[in-house]
Amino acid sequence: MAKQNLDWANIGFAYRKTDMRYVAAYRNGAWEEGTLTADDQITMTECAGVLQYAQTCFEGLKAYETANGDVVCFRPDLNAERMIASCRRLMIPEIPKEMFLTAIREVVRANLDWVPPYGSGASLYIRPYVFGKSAVIGVKPAEEYEFRVFVTPVGPYFKGDARPISLKVSDYDRAAPHGLGNIKAGANYAAALFMIENAHEEGYAENLYLDPATHTLIEETGGSNVFFVDKDRTIIIPHSKTDSILPSITRRSIVQVARDVLRLQVTEREVALSEIASFAEMGACGTAAVISPVGMVHDHGKEIVFPNGMEQSGPVVKELYDTLTGMQLGTVEAPEGWIFPVAEA
Ligand code: PLP
Ligand code: COI
Repeated sequence: MAKQNLDWANIGFAYRKTDMRYVAAYRNGAWEEGTLTADDQITMTECAGVLQYAQTCFEGLKAYETANGDVVCFRPDLNAERMIASCRRLMIPEIPKEMFLTAIREVVRANLDWVPPYGSGASLYIRPYVFGKSAVIGVKPAEEYEFRVFVTPVGPYFKGDARPISLKVSDYDRAAPHGLGNIKAGANYAAALFMIENAHEEGYAENLYLDPATHTLIEETGGSNVFFVDKDRTIIIPHSKTDSILPSITRRSIVQVARDVLRLQVTEREVALSEIASFAEMGACGTAAVISPVGMVHDHGKEIVFPNGMEQSGPVVKELYDTLTGMQLGTVEAPEGWIFPVAEA
Protein backbone atom coordinates (compact mmCIF):
# COMPACT_ATOMS: atom_id res chain seq x y z
CA MET A 1 0.00 0.00 0.00
CA ALA A 2 1.28 3.46 -0.83
CA LYS A 3 -0.09 6.88 -0.05
CA GLN A 4 -2.28 8.41 -2.72
CA ASN A 5 -0.44 10.85 -4.90
CA LEU A 6 -2.26 14.07 -3.99
CA ASP A 7 -1.07 17.63 -3.55
CA TRP A 8 -1.92 17.26 0.15
CA ALA A 9 -1.30 20.88 1.09
CA ASN A 10 -3.84 22.09 -1.47
CA ILE A 11 -6.69 19.58 -1.42
CA GLY A 12 -9.23 22.00 0.07
CA PHE A 13 -12.37 20.86 1.86
CA ALA A 14 -14.03 18.71 -0.78
CA TYR A 15 -15.40 15.18 -1.26
CA ARG A 16 -13.12 12.66 -2.90
CA LYS A 17 -14.31 9.11 -3.28
CA THR A 18 -12.04 6.80 -1.30
CA ASP A 19 -11.71 3.01 -1.42
CA MET A 20 -13.97 1.56 1.26
CA ARG A 21 -16.94 2.57 3.40
CA TYR A 22 -18.88 0.91 6.23
CA VAL A 23 -22.57 -0.05 5.91
CA ALA A 24 -24.95 -1.53 8.47
CA ALA A 25 -28.69 -2.07 8.11
CA TYR A 26 -31.42 -1.82 10.72
CA ARG A 27 -34.23 -4.31 9.97
CA ASN A 28 -36.85 -6.14 12.03
CA GLY A 29 -36.10 -4.05 15.08
CA ALA A 30 -32.33 -4.62 15.28
CA TRP A 31 -29.00 -3.46 13.84
CA GLU A 32 -27.42 -6.15 11.67
CA GLU A 33 -23.67 -6.63 11.62
CA GLY A 34 -21.98 -4.03 9.43
CA THR A 35 -19.51 -4.67 6.61
CA LEU A 36 -17.02 -2.76 4.51
CA THR A 37 -17.88 -2.22 0.87
CA ALA A 38 -16.32 -0.55 -2.14
CA ASP A 39 -19.78 0.48 -3.39
CA ASP A 40 -20.46 4.17 -2.84
CA GLN A 41 -23.99 4.07 -4.32
CA ILE A 42 -27.21 3.85 -2.32
CA THR A 43 -30.49 2.62 -3.80
CA MET A 44 -33.76 3.12 -1.95
CA THR A 45 -37.47 3.66 -2.36
CA GLU A 46 -38.69 7.01 -3.60
CA CYS A 47 -40.72 7.25 -0.39
CA ALA A 48 -37.79 6.74 2.06
CA GLY A 49 -38.10 8.56 5.40
CA VAL A 50 -34.92 10.51 4.67
CA LEU A 51 -36.20 11.73 1.31
CA GLN A 52 -39.69 12.70 2.46
CA TYR A 53 -39.20 13.94 6.02
CA ALA A 54 -35.43 14.44 6.37
CA GLN A 55 -35.05 11.70 8.96
CA THR A 56 -31.26 11.76 9.13
CA CYS A 57 -28.38 12.87 11.30
CA PHE A 58 -24.62 12.71 10.97
CA GLU A 59 -21.30 13.20 12.71
CA GLY A 60 -17.94 14.62 11.71
CA LEU A 61 -14.52 13.70 13.06
CA LYS A 62 -11.00 13.27 11.71
CA ALA A 63 -8.14 10.80 11.59
CA TYR A 64 -4.61 12.20 11.82
CA GLU A 65 -1.19 10.83 11.01
CA THR A 66 0.91 11.68 14.05
CA ALA A 67 4.56 12.72 14.22
CA ASN A 68 5.65 9.08 14.68
CA GLY A 69 3.49 7.77 11.83
CA ASP A 70 0.60 6.30 13.84
CA VAL A 71 -2.96 7.03 12.76
CA VAL A 72 -5.31 8.23 15.50
CA CYS A 73 -8.72 9.82 16.03
CA PHE A 74 -9.62 12.45 18.57
CA ARG A 75 -12.31 11.62 21.16
CA PRO A 76 -14.59 9.57 18.85
CA ASP A 77 -16.46 8.32 21.93
CA LEU A 78 -17.98 11.80 22.20
CA ASN A 79 -19.11 11.67 18.56
CA ALA A 80 -20.71 8.29 19.31
CA GLU A 81 -22.54 9.78 22.30
CA ARG A 82 -23.69 12.84 20.36
CA MET A 83 -24.97 10.62 17.56
CA ILE A 84 -27.01 8.66 20.10
CA ALA A 85 -28.53 11.97 21.28
CA SER A 86 -29.28 12.97 17.67
CA CYS A 87 -30.89 9.58 16.95
CA ARG A 88 -33.10 9.79 20.04
CA ARG A 89 -34.42 13.21 19.07
CA LEU A 90 -35.13 12.10 15.48
CA MET A 91 -36.71 8.73 16.37
CA ILE A 92 -33.84 6.86 14.69
CA PRO A 93 -32.69 3.64 16.40
CA GLU A 94 -29.52 4.45 18.36
CA ILE A 95 -26.20 3.38 16.90
CA PRO A 96 -24.53 1.37 19.68
CA LYS A 97 -21.30 3.06 20.79
CA GLU A 98 -19.20 -0.06 20.13
CA MET A 99 -20.61 -0.35 16.61
CA PHE A 100 -19.84 3.31 15.95
CA LEU A 101 -16.24 3.00 17.17
CA THR A 102 -15.67 -0.27 15.29
CA ALA A 103 -16.98 1.32 12.10
CA ILE A 104 -14.64 4.29 12.51
CA ARG A 105 -11.61 2.09 13.11
CA GLU A 106 -12.41 -0.29 10.23
CA VAL A 107 -13.09 2.42 7.65
CA VAL A 108 -9.95 4.36 8.46
CA ARG A 109 -7.84 1.20 8.44
CA ALA A 110 -9.30 0.28 5.04
CA ASN A 111 -8.33 3.69 3.65
CA LEU A 112 -4.89 4.28 5.17
CA ASP A 113 -3.51 5.37 1.79
CA TRP A 114 -5.86 8.33 2.01
CA VAL A 115 -4.69 9.60 5.41
CA PRO A 116 -2.80 12.81 4.65
CA PRO A 117 0.85 12.72 5.76
CA TYR A 118 1.94 14.33 9.03
CA GLY A 119 2.88 17.95 8.47
CA SER A 120 0.74 18.44 5.36
CA GLY A 121 -1.91 20.41 7.23
CA ALA A 122 -4.57 18.02 5.90
CA SER A 123 -6.39 15.18 7.67
CA LEU A 124 -8.86 12.40 6.90
CA TYR A 125 -12.42 13.60 7.50
CA ILE A 126 -14.76 10.86 8.71
CA ARG A 127 -18.48 11.18 8.06
CA PRO A 128 -20.78 8.77 9.94
CA TYR A 129 -24.46 9.15 9.05
CA VAL A 130 -27.75 7.34 9.47
CA PHE A 131 -31.02 7.70 7.61
CA GLY A 132 -34.57 6.35 7.40
CA LYS A 133 -34.59 4.04 4.37
CA SER A 134 -38.02 2.39 4.27
CA ALA A 135 -41.16 4.04 2.90
CA VAL A 136 -43.21 6.44 5.03
CA ILE A 137 -45.98 8.63 3.72
CA GLY A 138 -47.84 9.48 6.92
CA VAL A 139 -45.49 11.50 9.12
CA LYS A 140 -43.86 8.82 11.28
CA PRO A 141 -40.47 7.20 11.76
CA ALA A 142 -39.22 4.73 9.14
CA GLU A 143 -38.95 1.05 10.06
CA GLU A 144 -35.63 0.42 8.29
CA TYR A 145 -32.42 2.46 8.51
CA GLU A 146 -28.91 2.47 7.15
CA PHE A 147 -25.81 3.55 9.07
CA ARG A 148 -22.82 4.40 6.92
CA VAL A 149 -19.34 5.82 7.41
CA PHE A 150 -17.16 7.17 4.62
CA VAL A 151 -13.88 9.08 4.71
CA THR A 152 -12.42 11.78 2.52
CA PRO A 153 -9.11 13.64 2.84
CA VAL A 154 -9.55 17.35 3.56
CA GLY A 155 -7.57 20.52 4.05
CA PRO A 156 -8.72 23.66 5.87
CA TYR A 157 -12.47 24.34 5.90
CA PHE A 158 -12.14 28.10 5.51
CA LYS A 159 -10.34 29.59 2.54
CA GLY A 160 -7.37 31.89 3.17
CA ASP A 161 -4.67 29.67 4.63
CA ALA A 162 -5.53 29.87 8.35
CA ARG A 163 -5.74 33.66 8.28
CA PRO A 164 -8.53 35.19 10.39
CA ILE A 165 -12.03 34.83 8.99
CA SER A 166 -14.88 37.32 8.86
CA LEU A 167 -18.43 36.49 9.94
CA LYS A 168 -21.74 38.11 9.07
CA VAL A 169 -24.46 38.50 11.70
CA SER A 170 -27.45 36.76 10.15
CA ASP A 171 -31.02 38.03 10.16
CA TYR A 172 -32.17 34.45 9.68
CA ASP A 173 -32.13 31.77 12.35
CA ARG A 174 -30.29 28.47 12.27
CA ALA A 175 -32.20 26.55 14.92
CA ALA A 176 -35.36 27.26 16.89
CA PRO A 177 -35.30 27.48 20.70
CA HIS A 178 -35.69 23.92 22.02
CA GLY A 179 -35.59 22.71 18.41
CA LEU A 180 -32.81 20.71 16.72
CA GLY A 181 -29.90 23.08 17.33
CA ASN A 182 -28.24 20.85 19.92
CA ILE A 183 -28.12 17.79 17.64
CA LYS A 184 -26.53 17.16 14.24
CA ALA A 185 -29.69 16.84 12.17
CA GLY A 186 -29.19 17.16 8.43
CA ALA A 187 -32.18 19.51 8.49
CA ASN A 188 -30.15 22.15 10.37
CA TYR A 189 -27.72 22.37 7.48
CA ALA A 190 -30.47 22.45 4.84
CA ALA A 191 -31.97 25.35 6.79
CA ALA A 192 -28.67 27.25 6.62
CA LEU A 193 -27.86 26.74 2.92
CA PHE A 194 -29.65 29.89 1.84
CA MET A 195 -27.79 31.95 4.42
CA ILE A 196 -24.36 30.46 3.77
CA GLU A 197 -24.61 31.12 0.05
CA ASN A 198 -25.58 34.69 0.82
CA ALA A 199 -22.66 35.13 3.25
CA HIS A 200 -20.18 33.71 0.70
CA GLU A 201 -21.51 35.96 -2.06
CA GLU A 202 -20.89 38.94 0.18
CA GLY A 203 -17.36 37.77 1.00
CA TYR A 204 -17.86 36.36 4.52
CA ALA A 205 -16.62 32.93 5.58
CA GLU A 206 -19.78 32.10 7.59
CA ASN A 207 -22.81 33.51 9.37
CA LEU A 208 -22.93 34.30 13.04
CA TYR A 209 -26.37 33.28 14.31
CA LEU A 210 -28.16 34.98 17.18
CA ASP A 211 -30.77 33.51 19.53
CA PRO A 212 -34.01 33.38 17.52
CA ALA A 213 -36.22 34.70 20.33
CA THR A 214 -34.50 38.05 20.92
CA HIS A 215 -31.75 38.36 18.30
CA THR A 216 -29.46 39.81 20.94
CA LEU A 217 -27.38 36.80 22.09
CA ILE A 218 -24.57 35.03 20.24
CA GLU A 219 -25.20 31.37 19.40
CA GLU A 220 -22.77 29.92 16.84
CA THR A 221 -21.94 29.78 13.12
CA GLY A 222 -23.50 27.35 10.65
CA GLY A 223 -20.67 24.84 11.11
CA SER A 224 -18.80 25.73 14.30
CA ASN A 225 -19.14 27.00 17.84
CA VAL A 226 -17.53 30.34 18.71
CA PHE A 227 -15.67 31.62 21.76
CA PHE A 228 -14.16 34.87 22.94
CA VAL A 229 -11.13 35.92 24.95
CA ASP A 230 -11.41 38.97 27.17
CA LYS A 231 -8.64 41.43 28.01
CA ASP A 232 -7.63 39.32 31.08
CA ARG A 233 -7.20 36.23 28.89
CA THR A 234 -10.40 34.67 30.28
CA ILE A 235 -12.14 32.40 27.74
CA ILE A 236 -15.82 33.19 27.31
CA ILE A 237 -18.09 30.53 25.83
CA PRO A 238 -21.62 31.46 24.68
CA HIS A 239 -24.31 29.50 26.50
CA SER A 240 -27.88 29.06 25.26
CA LYS A 241 -30.69 28.67 27.80
CA THR A 242 -32.85 27.35 24.95
CA ASP A 243 -30.44 24.55 24.01
CA SER A 244 -29.93 25.70 20.46
CA ILE A 245 -26.11 25.49 20.27
CA LEU A 246 -24.47 22.23 19.15
CA PRO A 247 -22.30 20.74 21.95
CA SER A 248 -19.04 20.95 19.98
CA ILE A 249 -16.42 18.40 20.95
CA THR A 250 -13.68 20.83 19.95
CA ARG A 251 -15.20 23.51 22.21
CA ARG A 252 -15.52 21.12 25.15
CA SER A 253 -11.89 20.15 24.62
CA ILE A 254 -10.84 23.80 24.46
CA VAL A 255 -12.51 24.39 27.83
CA GLN A 256 -10.46 21.60 29.39
CA VAL A 257 -7.21 22.55 27.65
CA ALA A 258 -7.65 26.19 28.66
CA ARG A 259 -8.28 25.32 32.32
CA ASP A 260 -5.91 22.41 32.86
CA VAL A 261 -3.04 23.05 30.45
CA LEU A 262 -2.93 26.79 29.81
CA ARG A 263 -4.27 27.64 33.30
CA LEU A 264 -6.79 30.14 31.98
CA GLN A 265 -10.14 31.04 33.48
CA VAL A 266 -13.15 29.85 31.48
CA THR A 267 -16.66 31.26 31.80
CA GLU A 268 -19.69 29.78 30.07
CA ARG A 269 -22.52 32.32 29.96
CA GLU A 270 -24.93 34.15 27.71
CA VAL A 271 -22.98 36.56 25.49
CA ALA A 272 -24.71 39.62 24.03
CA LEU A 273 -23.85 40.80 20.52
CA SER A 274 -23.63 44.29 22.01
CA GLU A 275 -20.63 43.35 24.19
CA ILE A 276 -18.38 41.55 21.73
CA ALA A 277 -16.59 44.69 20.58
CA SER A 278 -15.02 44.80 24.06
CA PHE A 279 -13.37 41.38 23.70
CA ALA A 280 -9.70 40.93 22.81
CA GLU A 281 -10.09 37.88 20.56
CA MET A 282 -12.66 35.63 18.94
CA GLY A 283 -12.36 32.10 17.59
CA ALA A 284 -14.54 29.64 15.67
CA CYS A 285 -14.07 25.99 16.60
CA GLY A 286 -15.14 22.62 15.29
CA THR A 287 -13.82 19.50 13.60
CA ALA A 288 -13.83 21.11 10.16
CA ALA A 289 -13.07 24.64 11.41
CA VAL A 290 -10.38 23.37 13.86
CA ILE A 291 -9.69 26.63 15.75
CA SER A 292 -9.99 29.52 13.33
CA PRO A 293 -9.25 33.05 14.47
CA VAL A 294 -12.04 35.50 13.73
CA GLY A 295 -10.79 38.91 12.61
CA MET A 296 -14.06 40.70 12.03
CA VAL A 297 -17.81 40.46 12.61
CA HIS A 298 -20.07 42.39 10.26
CA ASP A 299 -23.24 43.57 12.00
CA HIS A 300 -25.62 45.40 9.68
CA GLY A 301 -23.18 47.86 8.21
CA LYS A 302 -21.02 48.05 11.33
CA GLU A 303 -17.66 46.25 11.40
CA ILE A 304 -16.45 44.89 14.71
CA VAL A 305 -12.72 44.33 14.16
CA PHE A 306 -10.77 42.44 16.82
CA PRO A 307 -7.32 43.82 17.78
CA ASN A 308 -5.42 41.09 15.89
CA GLY A 309 -7.15 42.19 12.66
CA MET A 310 -7.36 40.15 9.47
CA GLU A 311 -3.71 39.14 9.05
CA GLN A 312 -2.86 37.13 12.15
CA SER A 313 -4.41 35.13 14.96
CA GLY A 314 -4.86 36.58 18.43
CA PRO A 315 -2.29 35.15 20.91
CA VAL A 316 -4.67 33.08 23.08
CA VAL A 317 -6.50 31.63 20.09
CA LYS A 318 -3.07 30.65 18.72
CA GLU A 319 -2.00 29.03 22.01
CA LEU A 320 -5.22 27.02 22.06
CA TYR A 321 -4.75 26.04 18.41
CA ASP A 322 -1.14 24.96 18.93
CA THR A 323 -1.97 22.92 22.03
CA LEU A 324 -5.05 21.18 20.65
CA THR A 325 -3.58 20.38 17.24
CA GLY A 326 -0.36 19.28 19.00
CA MET A 327 -2.42 16.74 20.95
CA GLN A 328 -4.09 15.50 17.77
CA LEU A 329 -0.75 15.17 16.00
CA GLY A 330 1.05 13.54 18.91
CA THR A 331 3.49 16.35 19.72
CA VAL A 332 1.71 17.50 22.91
CA GLU A 333 0.58 15.07 25.59
CA ALA A 334 -3.21 14.69 25.60
CA PRO A 335 -5.40 13.91 28.60
CA GLU A 336 -6.07 10.23 29.25
CA GLY A 337 -8.55 8.74 26.78
CA TRP A 338 -8.56 11.55 24.22
CA ILE A 339 -6.49 9.78 21.59
CA PHE A 340 -8.07 6.73 19.93
CA PRO A 341 -5.44 4.55 18.24
CA VAL A 342 -6.45 3.31 14.79
CA ALA A 343 -3.25 2.01 13.15
CA GLU A 344 0.42 1.81 14.10
CA ALA A 345 3.22 3.17 11.96
N1 PLP B 1 -21.60 23.71 15.48
C1 PLP B 1 -22.07 23.24 14.33
C2 PLP B 1 -23.35 23.80 13.83
C3 PLP B 1 -21.37 22.25 13.62
O1 PLP B 1 -21.82 21.77 12.46
C4 PLP B 1 -20.16 21.77 14.15
C5 PLP B 1 -19.42 20.71 13.45
O2 PLP B 1 -19.43 19.57 13.80
C6 PLP B 1 -19.70 22.28 15.36
C7 PLP B 1 -20.44 23.25 16.00
C8 PLP B 1 -18.43 21.80 15.96
O3 PLP B 1 -18.57 20.56 16.61
P1 PLP B 1 -17.34 19.60 16.77
O4 PLP B 1 -16.30 20.36 17.49
O5 PLP B 1 -17.88 18.47 17.61
O6 PLP B 1 -16.94 19.18 15.44
C1 COI C 1 -17.77 19.24 11.16
O1 COI C 1 -17.02 20.11 11.58
O2 COI C 1 -17.48 18.04 11.22
C2 COI C 1 -19.05 19.56 10.58
O3 COI C 1 -19.88 18.71 10.51
C3 COI C 1 -19.28 20.92 10.08
C4 COI C 1 -19.63 20.97 8.64
C5 COI C 1 -19.95 22.38 8.33
C6 COI C 1 -18.56 20.45 7.74
